[in-house]
Amino acid sequence: MIPHSRPIFGAPFSDAVQSVMASGHTASGAQATLLEQTVIQHIGCHDAVAVDSGTSALMLAIRALSMQMTIKHIGIPAYACASLLFAVRAAGCTPVCMDCKHDLRLDADKAWDIANKLDAVILVHPFGMVEPLVKETWPCPVIEDIAQAAGATLDSKPVGSFGDIAIVSFYATKPWGGAYGGMVMGEQKVCTQVRAMSNPDASDFTQTYVGHHQLSDIHASLALTRLACYQQDMSQRKQHMQWLDERLPQNYVQSITNRENGNAFRYIIRTHHDAETCIQHLRQHGIAACKPVQQPLNLATDGLCDGAYQAWKDCVSLPLLPTMSHNEHIQYEQGLKACLQY
Ligand SMILES: Cc1ncc(COP(=O)(O)O)c(C=O)c1O
Repeated sequence: MIPHSRPIFGAPFSDAVQSVMASGHTASGAQATLLEQTVIQHIGCHDAVAVDSGTSALMLAIRALSMQMTIKHIGIPAYACASLLFAVRAAGCTPVCMDCKHDLRLDADKAWDIANKLDAVILVHPFGMVEPLVKETWPCPVIEDIAQAAGATLDSKPVGSFGDIAIVSFYATKPWGGAYGGMVMGEQKVCTQVRAMSNPDASDFTQTYVGHHQLSDIHASLALTRLACYQQDMSQRKQHMQWLDERLPQNYVQSITNRENGNAFRYIIRTHHDAETCIQHLRQHGIAACKPVQQPLNLATDGLCDGAYQAWKDCVSLPLLPTMSHNEHIQYEQGLKACLQY
């Protein structure tokens, strides 16, 4: 089976882990600090805190904001990873879903209709594309989620530099992936609050929430190694994207305009309302396609989001790999031909 993702973990990754082991210090330490400094340089933010996951990063960012103002209702994209919904709930807030357009980015008109009712908003750059609404002035604080789009740019500025706070994930298959981990990036005040919530041993008993959220040096060293080579991964995925463009019938080709300045994280096609059957066929031909999003998040709230529902019925994420063998190329091409009938 051609896997949906296959991050390359070569010798530099095992060397990095070995050197942490040899140092005798595996918990959060020098590597986590170096990862924070590296990301600060990439994004150009004031401060950054390495934590145990992207989901924790979101939850802690919301909790830190809540210390500065009342945060109850948080806007999240309906067509996004379930982590957003659970992070909002874990911070004691209520998610409010925002619908997407045909190109899977937010429907701006619908978003502005509800913006005034939100206390904060999480804007995701979806599937490696850039969400232009991060450039706009929102009536509430913006948490910019670059988990899937790290390395992408908008108006020559790195994504992650637009929101009041930004978060990223270092989960294995993500563009900056190591194994597990996440980071909160932003002003010093927010980051100090996130640090205080991440280490029970250094906590003060007046705090309402503290969890053990620090990132281990082993995980940090893996993420650091990925950061050193993610641009090469990105250009290899871009080549694979082009290979797919040349092999897919026109009506299945992912819209090229949406990729501008993106990081080629996912290759998503729209079927004719039958993603499920298409995925089954592709899998029977050895191609591990999957749904880009397991369920539209508005199913968990009372919001109606037709665009997200339609995307869920239509969209299929095809394997997009930095490298493939000759035989895999042949298998992939034959599988696409058989399943998409051309
Ligand atoms: C857009 C987005 N944000 C946040 C997360 C959560 O990251 P993690 O898996 O590190 O908890 C994910 C994970 O899939 C994601 O896709």
